[in-house]
Amino acid sequence: MTSPDLPAELKAALDGKLRGFSRSDAAGRAASISKTYRDGGGSGAIRSETDALAYALARMPATYAAVTASLNALVEIRPDFAPKNLLDVGAGPGTATWAAAEAFPSLQDFALLDANDALRTLALDLAHDSTRLRGIGYQRGEARMSLAKSHTADLVVASYMIGEIGDAEQRALAELMWQKTRDTLLVVEPGTPAGYARIIALRAQLIALGAHVAAPCPHNNECPLLAPDWCHFTQRLQRSRTHKQVKGAELPFEDERFSYVALTRAPVEGRRPSRVLAQPIVSKVEITAKLCTPEGLSFTKVRRRAKADYAVARRWRWGDAVT
Ligand SMILES: C[S@@+](CC[C@H](N)C(=O)[O-])C[C@H]1O[C@@H](n2cnc3c(N)ncnc32)[C@H](O)[C@@H]1O
Repeated sequence: MTSPDLPAELKAALDGKLRGFSRSDAAGRAASISKTYRDGGGSGAIRSETDALAYALARMPATYAAVTASLNALVEIRPDFAPKNLLDVGAGPGTATWAAAEAFPSLQDFALLDANDALRTLALDLAHDSTRLRGIGYQRGEARMSLAKSHTADLVVASYMIGEIGDAEQRALAELMWQKTRDTLLVVEPGTPAGYARIIALRAQLIALGAHVAAPCPHNNECPLLAPDWCHFTQRLQRSRTHKQVKGAELPFEDERFSYVALTRAPVEGRRPSRVLAQPIVSKVEITAKLCTPEGLSFTKVRRRAKADYAVARRWRWGDAVT
């Protein structure tokens, strides 16, 4: 399992970039970029080097943690998956590329694409001193245009990206990303009802085109959750001093909520483990766990009297794959 915290090399590169920048300027820009996001805007507010750095300092730790958690879930289901090349769509500062490089030592080629010049420049700077990532290829341009010219890749990732484009474009982009996927496509979104809705729409669209779900669902059937419920997970990450300063936060950690789907060309073999959909409730007599099973949704109760099963269920955590 890869750690959800930024790798030392990336932390050092971010700290290096911050030298010469005022932390209070970065905090001010981060606050204004976050407000744009909250108001429904996208990365268009990121225009300068300071904007890009402020965005990366404030958000990269959390999006990195969410992508890493999703990749960990994928690796658990498909331990033999060893992609050689990666395509990172809407790569921004290169977050998913760093996460994938940590999760898969097999990765050799990294192709990134994004429309935002400031984020592209930052990504190239951050990767400059990395032995693994200094040779990344980063195309600047609109995703669908760039994708049409891209090579296929074993692993294609779009992290916190599809929410920035309209519904009709999302469908076209999903199809193009799938066309460029030789093995696995991972899409990660914020763990909000809207983020989940985008994931579930893309999931249905690509299953109709022959995709199989590797994670989080243990099946290709329709999602058994009914609104207002939605499938999402949470990943805790540590906040560094700089991260706290830029966010004006006190707590030494934050919990990032995310939704994701990993789709594969070939079906995952064998009986699939169930997915824990919320933190299990432990009482004196039993543990109640909300599970997505191959047969659908289940509120499984494990009685304390069933000692061995109870001991196993006590270790279940939200997001785990369990049998
Ligand atoms: C919220 S950022 C996420 C960046 C990165 N994937 C991450 O997880 O940190 C969304 C990214 O998608 C890019 N993006 C949005 N719409 C795009 C489009 N139509 N074509 C290319 N890039 C796009 C933005 O420029 C931005 O870098």
